[in-house]
Formats: sequence, structure tokens, C-alpha cells
Amino acid sequence: MLSIANKILMHYDSNARDLPWRVGPKSSADKAINPYHVWLSEIMLQQTTVAAVIPYFEKFTTRWPDFDALAAAAETDVMAAWAGLGYYARARNLVKCARTVSSDYDGILPQDEQGLRLLSGIGDYTAAAIASIAFGRRALVVDANIERIIARIFAIDTPLPKGKKQIKAALDTIVPEDRAGDLAQGLMDIGASICSAKNPKCMLCPLNEDCQAYHDGRVEAYPVKPAKKIKPERIGMAWWIVRDGHVLLIKRPDAAMLGGMRALPDDGWKARQDGDGVLPFDHNFEKIGKSMTFKQVVQHSFTHFSLKLSLTSIEVNQDVRMDESDNFIWWPIDKIEQAGLPTVFAKAINIVMKYEKGETYE
Ligand code: ADE
Repeated sequence: MLSIANKILMHYDSNARDLPWRVGPKSSADKAINPYHVWLSEIMLQQTTVAAVIPYFEKFTTRWPDFDALAAAAETDVMAAWAGLGYYARARNLVKCARTVSSDYDGILPQDEQGLRLLSGIGDYTAAAIASIAFGRRALVVDANIERIIARIFAIDTPLPKGKKQIKAALDTIVPEDRAGDLAQGLMDIGASICSAKNPKCMLCPLNEDCQAYHDGRVEAYPVKPAKKIKPERIGMAWWIVRDGHVLLIKRPDAAMLGGMRALPDDGWKARQDGDGVLPFDHNFEKIGKSMTFKQVVQHSFTHFSLKLSLTSIEVNQDVRMDESDNFIWWPIDKIEQAGLPTVFAKAINIVMKYEKGETYE
């Protein structure tokens, strides 16, 4: 009988998804694995779907084709290009990591997990994924898809995150010396198309004979999740401050949520507290025209809280501050979509734009 690993690899050889960072069984023979592509894709794929990542991956590799190019980029440009992908600490770490690789490693990634883990933004999962996919090392790659498949095959009923240790140990019993990267990617593909969280297609699964949960008729019971925490709901305010065809943007402090991103000024809402309703800087501007708070409120869900963000629009004729620093920018309104704002603020701007077009009244 074929081993579990052989079944996964055979399935991968005939069904691998054709992904832009992947050198798979369907790639042309002269296409070589590019460690920069593997690294970039793995950082982008942390907590983000393949479909969402593909256009960002294409944009980044066109604009910054290797570590040296990315290392030379301005951090604000990288943050703006990342806008919409979420979890923005990844983008800051991306630049840090590229700069270290470029300056300290001659533009070449270390090949082993231990060396990779020393770099910004690379934790256990990403180190294992890069070591195996880019460099053919044997490593235990455990992402949410693989976690689910292994928990089902071995009917591991310790709730996550505690169960992760057992899942890793079980995976260790099936990962071969050769082709550990293909095995990981084969498992990811099975997780994406067959062994889904809801309504898995067990009849099509190459591993159904090996799957304890399937034999027990309890596939959807795994992996066992911890009790769900209720997400707190926060409220906050953001400002659309306009002067002469420009809107006031700020650069968020590095240590804050969405740190390093350009954004609308807001009242300091965060995971653990509502905003205070007050503009975050001293000002001496004179309001002209109408100042108003839109009836429509932005609803946005972050990992640890959800936010109801009100939006106030003010037109001013005197500058708040004239010092055009990186942290304080008058941005042309007709180019606002190029500012690279995080999704929560892009939603706010949508409200303003709909109002300006006469599609809503307030
Ligand atoms: N998710 C994380 N890494 C992936 C990869 N290399 N292929 C497909 N999905 C993934």
C-alpha cells in the first residue's frame, strides 16, 4: 500500500494549482525556484487567501524584482503598495528583512530554518515553508490547512492551540526526506479544494482510507477549536479635512496599529479602547463652509475587535500645520486612491466620494 506521503505527492503531481510563485509539476522545465518569490508569497499568504495575494504578488515582483530592489525602496511606498492586504506589520517586517538580506547576506536568503528565523517577519511556520519549498530541506510546515488535515487523519482531539504540538508530531511521522516542500504544498492544495473546514469532499480525497475522522464519520469535528471569545466593539471618529482640493493625511506612528501607514487623522481608537472624539493634534484652522458628520458609519472588523467609525468632514482655509513632513501630508483628493490607505480608511473615503457624487446625502 502507498504511504500517506506518496499519496499526497501523486495527487500533487497531477493536480497542483498553478500559482505565480510556484515551480510545480506543470511549470516549464527551465523555470527555477526563486527564493525571493517563495519568501514574498509566504509572508503575503500569512492569514490571507491565495486569491487575495495573487495580484499583490504580481505588483510587488514587477516593481521590486529581488531583495536588493525591495531593500532600496522607501518604506512608505511599500506600505502603500501593501494597502488592502491587512496585517500591516508584515509590510514593515518585509522591508526590514529585505534590507538585512541585502546588506548582511549579499541578497541571498539563509537556507535552513534556524537561519531564516533570525530574520524579521519569519516565524516557525514561514521558516519551515521557505526551507522546504525554496531549498528542499525537510521541515514541518503547519498552516491552518495542514493543521486541519492532520487533525482529521489522526483524529487529534486536543483543542487548538494546545493540539498543535500533537499535530506537528503526527506530521513528523509522514514527512519524507525528499520533496518536503511539495508535500507541504500538496497538503495545502488538498486543504483548499477537498479537505475544507465545512463540507469537505471526502469522496474525492486521496487520503480518505487513511483518515480516522472519516472512518468515524466525524470529519467536521476536527480540528477541535478553543471556545470562541466575543469580539469587543469599539467606536471612533476620523476626519476628512479639506483645503484647496487636498485632504489632510497623517502617517501613523510605527508602534501603533496600522503603524507606518498613511491614514486619515482619527481620535485614537484601538483594540482596548474607544476613541476620545478629539482630533489628535493641536490646530488653529478656521472652518469654512459646512462641517458635518456623515450619517453613514464605517463598519470594519479587525482580528481582535470590530470598529464603528464615524466620519466628520471639515473644510478649512488656514493651514493646520504647514510643515509638510512625512507624518503630515496634504494629499490631492483626485489622487486619493494612490495614497495606499488601509481598508478601514478606504471605506471611509468611499462614504465621502459617494456623497460628493450625490449618491448619498449625509
Ligand atoms: N498558503 C501558504 N503558503 C502557500 C503555498 N505555498 N501555496 C498555497 N497556499 C499557501
